[in-house]
Amino acid sequence: MVQLSVNGVAHKYDGDPEMPLLWYLRDLLELAGTKYGCGAGLCGACTVHLNGKPVRSCITAMKDTAGMKITTIEGLSPDGKHPLQLAWQDLNVMQCGYCQSGQIMQAAGLLKEKPKPTDADIDAYMTGNICRCGTYQRIRSAIKKAAGVKA
Ligand code: FES
Ligand code: FES
Repeated sequence: MVQLSVNGVAHKYDGDPEMPLLWYLRDLLELAGTKYGCGAGLCGACTVHLNGKPVRSCITAMKDTAGMKITTIEGLSPDGKHPLQLAWQDLNVMQCGYCQSGQIMQAAGLLKEKPKPTDADIDAYMTGNICRCGTYQRIRSAIKKAAGVKA
């Protein structure tokens, strides 16, 4: 039995301990904001927070979530007004949108560690989050806007 918290709600899971967290979130809890891209930890589409730090939920087994606090894009802000979400809207960052919940969750991890990131900080921290539409410039601008850093 795995006990975990997802977006502030306590859950119990007694299925396959090796099942990826991504399937638990999407298929059992119906939190579909977290996306399946590569399934191999390589693209970042499935990024959520585990005890406040970004992880790839496609390669995180349920057994490793015991006692952990998971936050998904649905739980990042109670009203969808996290500074990153507002900046994303202001700058129209998204194209198809598929990678973007993972991008925002990764960026939220960055701002926790470095509230005023430099371009180099952003590039280094965001490098594992792939966007097939090529929105990288706007992602960087939106992170700076959310951080109150000059573009
Ligand atoms: S789907 Fe998890 S990193 Fe690509
Ligand atoms: S917006 Fe389409 S994959 Fe990033």
